[in-house]
Amino acid sequence: MSYSVKEFGSNEEKVVLSNSYLQIEVSTLGATLVSLRLLRTQDHRDIVCGMKDAEGYLAHDKYFGACVGRIAGRIDQGRFTLNEKEYQLPQNNNGNSLHGGIHGFDRKHFTYEVMQEGEVGSIILQYTSVDGEEGYPGTVDLTVTYRLDHNRMSIDYSAVSDQDTIINMTNHSYFNLEGHTSSTILDHSLRVDSNELLMIDEDSCPRGNRLQVESTPFDFRCEKKIRECIEQDHEQLRLGNGIDHFFIFTTDQDQITLRSPDSKVALHVSTDQVGANIYSANYLDGSDIGKENIAYPQRCAICLETQNYSNDINIHEDATCILRKGDTYSSHTTYTFEVEE
Ligand code: BGC
Repeated sequence: MSYSVKEFGSNEEKVVLSNSYLQIEVSTLGATLVSLRLLRTQDHRDIVCGMKDAEGYLAHDKYFGACVGRIAGRIDQGRFTLNEKEYQLPQNNNGNSLHGGIHGFDRKHFTYEVMQEGEVGSIILQYTSVDGEEGYPGTVDLTVTYRLDHNRMSIDYSAVSDQDTIINMTNHSYFNLEGHTSSTILDHSLRVDSNELLMIDEDSCPRGNRLQVESTPFDFRCEKKIRECIEQDHEQLRLGNGIDHFFIFTTDQDQITLRSPDSKVALHVSTDQVGANIYSANYLDGSDIGKENIAYPQRCAICLETQNYSNDINIHEDATCILRKGDTYSSHTTYTFEVEE
């Protein structure tokens, strides 16, 4: 296990942490996963999309590798009621609030420390979001921990608030197991332990209606190529411009497998969250120039955004995203990589 720190521009840094299986780079801007290299591949391939420097992240709004909050996904009309008080958030996406608003956590500076215990290393990042920031109540102390242990990376979120508030964090990494320079994930295989998903409307917002995946393109209960879903004709695929849906898990571990076309690299995702918003990079269009001057085209990667139910605050009275004063929010996801050497 070793680590180093590099300048990242705009007064930000990136921390590079490696063991003999994995190397990650995490930026103090947005606690963002800038790169993830599989050191057991011949080419030490970097399997997440990202930008060269902090300016790159600040100039784009695709949330490459970002720590997304306070609320991942959409809040209908940016409006919600908590303890009988109505809150209005910035409406930054077709009238809805997306991914924590205009200045979400992806744009905030985090402080960090690095811890090493034998073969296990962690980057622990911290940010305090003040009461009223982006329209949300309560001052929230957030800790994000990236941990490397052999062939496994985990991401943990932990937060407390001095008032009742709402929170639902995720990591927005765009994965391509052939490397971030590869132009498509259509021939990757995907498995998701999910019988149903949240249907979306024209504005991509889920409003509580569910779709049983059986006999639809969204049935990933057995591993299949992503192309076999996306190339079908289905209203939900049209509305999302591809896959952009919250899949509700039926199991409480090892819920997702993503496999490269040659089957030599696999990613297994295991989480304590109830589901994941799975997004097939539908709104990338080649205009974002990332690391190594790569232009990222549509469907060049897939996001596996483990989190709590989307827009739940407007659907359920006792919404899962409510964090009461004095309670601790937590979320834990592990990403295990298998490489055929
Ligand atoms: C959303 C997409 C959105 C993307 C932003 C995803 O999590 O569900 O609709 O376009 O993030 O990059």
